[in-house]
Amino acid sequence: MTDFISIDFHSTYFGLLLIFTIRGLLCEPIVKPIGSSVVKTQVGSNETLRMTYSGVTTPQVSWWKDGVSIAVWTIGSTTPPQIVLQYEDVLVLEEDGSLSFINVALKHGGKYSITVVGVGAEEGKTSFTLIVYDKIEGVTLQAGPKDAVEGDDTFTLYYTTLKGEAEFAQWFFNGEELRNSSHHSMSEKNLSIIRPSREDTGQYNITLRNPFSFGTSIRNLTVLYGPDQPTLDVSPTKSFFVSGESLSLSCGAQGEPLPSVSWAFNGQAVPSTRPGTLQITNAQTNQSGAYTCMLKNDKTESQVNKSVTVNVYESPAGSPVCSVHAADGNLALHYRCEWPGGTPEAQLTFPALSTASMGLGELNLTVDDPLDLDGMEVSCLAHHPVHQKQCNITARKTAGFLPSVSAMVDADGRVVVVIGCVAEATPNATVIWARSGQDVTSLTGYEVSDDTAWLRIGNFNVSTAGLHTYTCTAVNPLGSHSRDTVLSGPAISDASLFPNEEGTVITLTWEVPSTSIVTGFDIQVKGPDLPHSSTTTTTVSHSQRAKTEYRTIMVRPGDSRSADISGLDPKSRYNFRVIPKAGRRAGKQSQQLPTGPGGGLSGAAIAGIAAGIPCSLLVLLLLCLIFPCVFYHKKRSRKARYPVSRAVEKAVTTMSTPHQLLTGGLKLPPDYSNHQPPAIERSAPLPSVAPAVRMATTV
Ligand SMILES: *[C@@H]1O[C@H](CO)[C@@H](O)[C@H](O)[C@H]1NC(C)=O
Ligand SMILES: *[C@@H]1O[C@H](CO)[C@@H](O)[C@H](O)[C@H]1NC(C)=O
Ligand SMILES: *[C@@H]1O[C@H](CO)[C@@H](O)[C@H](O)[C@H]1NC(C)=O
Ligand SMILES: *[C@@H]1O[C@H](CO)[C@@H](O)[C@H](O)[C@H]1NC(C)=O
Ligand SMILES: *[C@@H]1O[C@H](CO)[C@@H](O)[C@H](O)[C@H]1NC(C)=O
Repeated sequence: MTDFISIDFHSTYFGLLLIFTIRGLLCEPIVKPIGSSVVKTQVGSNETLRMTYSGVTTPQVSWWKDGVSIAVWTIGSTTPPQIVLQYEDVLVLEEDGSLSFINVALKHGGKYSITVVGVGAEEGKTSFTLIVYDKIEGVTLQAGPKDAVEGDDTFTLYYTTLKGEAEFAQWFFNGEELRNSSHHSMSEKNLSIIRPSREDTGQYNITLRNPFSFGTSIRNLTVLYGPDQPTLDVSPTKSFFVSGESLSLSCGAQGEPLPSVSWAFNGQAVPSTRPGTLQITNAQTNQSGAYTCMLKNDKTESQVNKSVTVNVYESPAGSPVCSVHAADGNLALHYRCEWPGGTPEAQLTFPALSTASMGLGELNLTVDDPLDLDGMEVSCLAHHPVHQKQCNITARKTAGFLPSVSAMVDADGRVVVVIGCVAEATPNATVIWARSGQDVTSLTGYEVSDDTAWLRIGNFNVSTAGLHTYTCTAVNPLGSHSRDTVLSGPAISDASLFPNEEGTVITLTWEVPSTSIVTGFDIQVKGPDLPHSSTTTTTVSHSQRAKTEYRTIMVRPGDSRSADISGLDPKSRYNFRVIPKAGRRAGKQSQQLPTGPGGGLSGAAIAGIAAGIPCSLLVLLLLCLIFPCVFYHKKRSRKARYPVSRAVEKAVTTMSTPHQLLTGGLKLPPDYSNHQPPAIERSAPLPSVAPAVRMATTV
C-alpha cells in the first residue's frame, strides 16, 4: 500500500486521479478521532481515546502503540477483544472500538494508532497522542555549586521537581517574566544568565504548569562582586600633620560580600581595631609614609589596594640662629644661619645675600667683598612647613673703644699688667698687639688672650713704665681701629674725704690716672690712735710717735677706690693720705686730707683764706676764660670722649665753690648711688695718648 502510494506520487497527475477514483469504488473505511487527536490526561484517571469510523460495518479494529499491536477486536463479535497481557488491567475496548485506559500511568503516554479493516475492504487508519501528566510537586530552583560572580561568562539556574512534568515553564526575576535575550537564555530546565552582574541579584521565580497542576519555586540569587574602586580618606584633611596630632584613615569599597579591610604601613602590616579605620593618635614623624588599605572579597578572593601618603612634620626646636664670622684672613664675611632638627629640615635662605643658595638646617654663605654690608641687617628666612621664622644679623665694623689697664702682683711678687682692648664689632674683632711698633708675639713675657682682646705683660718693670707705646689694633672684615697706650707709674690723680655727721666715720675716695700701674694702696693717717680701726699696725708700734707722723692703717687692693675709716674722735684732728703702689714700689702720695675741728684749715687752706675774696674772684675770672675754651675743645674731640673720673668732677665742683673747703669737716658723706654710673653720664676730653678707664667702681 505504501509502496503503491509512493509510486502514485511518482506518476502523472492523471494517474493520481485514476487511483483516487478506484479507491472510492473500493469503499475504503474512514476513521477519525472524536475530538482532538491529542489527549491530555492525568495519572490515575480513566481516559478514552475516542474514534469513529464509517464506510464499513463490523470491521476489525487494531490498536497499536509504537508499532506494536496492543488490542484487536472485531466490532460486534462475541469473542472478547484480544489485549496484550501487560495491558490487560489497563485497557478496555469500548463497543465502538474506542480505547479506554483505567488508572492511566505515566508510562502509557505516547503515540497510539488504530486501523479499521472491513471485509474485503481497504484499511482505515488514524492516530492519537496520549500525554499523561502527573501532578507537579516539589519544585525547587537550584543553582550550581559555584557562586554567581560578576563578570563570569554565564551563571545557570535550573529547576527540579519531585513529581510531574511541566507543560509550560515561566521564569521571573523580581516579579517580571524573563524572555530569551542576549542576557537570559532559557532552555529545558535551565535559565542561563549571560555575563552576570550585580544587577542580576534578586529574586528568581520559576512557575511550572500542566493542564492539571501548578508548581512554583523562589530563590534569591546574590551575584558576588567587588571590591570596587576603593575610597581612602584621611581625616582631618590636611597636607601634613604636626607631630602629636591625631588622624584617622578610613577605607572602603562596594562589594558583595562587603570587602574585608587590612592595613599596611610602608609595606608592613598594621593592626587596626576598627574595620576600615586606622586611628593614629599622637602622630610621630616616623609615622610619615605610605599607608595602604587592602580590600579583599573573602568569597571571590579578589583584592584591590589603595595607598595614601601621610606626612607628619615637626618643627625644629627653638628659633633659627644667625651669626657672622670673619673669614679669609679678615677679608671676607661668613654668614651662618642654623636651625637644626625638625622633620623635614627647615629651608634656610639669606635673600639679601643670595637668591640661589639654600640650606637645610644650616646655611653658610661667604661674602668676599663685604664692605657695603656694614650696618646692614641681614635676615635669614627659615621656612618650615610648620613654622616660618627669621633671624637677623648685622655686621658692624669696629666701633671706637678705649683700652683699659689693670695691674696686680703675682705669687712671686712680680707686677703683672693687663691691657684690654675690647672693641665692639660684629663679627668680633681680632686684636693685634704691638709694643713700640714691634709685634708682641715676637717678644718674650707677653701673652695675648685667646680672644686677642687682652695683653698680659708678666714681670712688668714699673721704673720703665713710660718707655713703650702699646698699640692695639682691632680688626674685623669691615674695618679696623687702633689705640695707643703709654703706661705710667703708680699715681693718684685726686682724693677726697667725706666725714659723717657725727664726725666718727670718714670715707676716703681717690682716683688714679687711667694708664697708671697700681696694684694697691696704703691708707695712712696722722693723728690720735684709732682704737677700732682694722689697721695694719705692724709698722707703727709707738702711739706717741704716731700722733705726729703718718702711719699706715689700711691696705687696699689695686682696684679699690675708697675706704671707710671708723672710730674717729669727733673732737680730734686727723690727716689722711693715700699712697699708690705698684708691687713694692710706691708712687707719689695723695694730698693731705684733714678732718676734725679746724682740721680743714691746712696750710693751703689758710693760704686760701688769706688770699680770701680776691682769690676767688680770680678763680671765677679764670673759669670764665677757661669754659669757652673747654667747650670748644669738647666739640672738637667729641668723637673720642672719655669718662671723667669722679675725682676730677669733684675737683671742678670744689673749684667753683671754694668756700666749701672751709666747711669741709661738715660735709655729708657722698651718696654714691646718685653717681651711678659715674663714668658714663659725664664725660670730658682727656689727652688721647693717655686714655682714662676706670678699672673698678669706687663704691
Ligand atoms: C475508573 O474505572 C474503574 C472501573 O470501571 C472504576 O473502578 C474507577 O473508580 C474509575 N476511576 C475514576 C477516577 O473514575
Ligand atoms: C528560548 O530559546 C530556547 C532555544 O534557544 C527555546 O528552547 C526556549 O523555548 C525559548 N524560551 C522562551 C521563553 O522563549
Ligand atoms: C529573598 O529576598 C527577599 C528580599 O529581597 C526577602 O524578603 C526574602 O525573605 C528572601 N528569601 C529568601 C529565601 O532568602
Ligand atoms: C628681623 O627683622 C625684621 C625686619 O627687618 C623684623 O620684622 C623681625 O622681627 C626681626 N627678627 C628678629 C628675630 O629680630
Ligand atoms: C728696671 O729698669 C731699670 C732701668 O732700665 C733697671 O735698672 C732695673 O734693673 C730694671 N728692673 C728689673 C727688675 O728688671
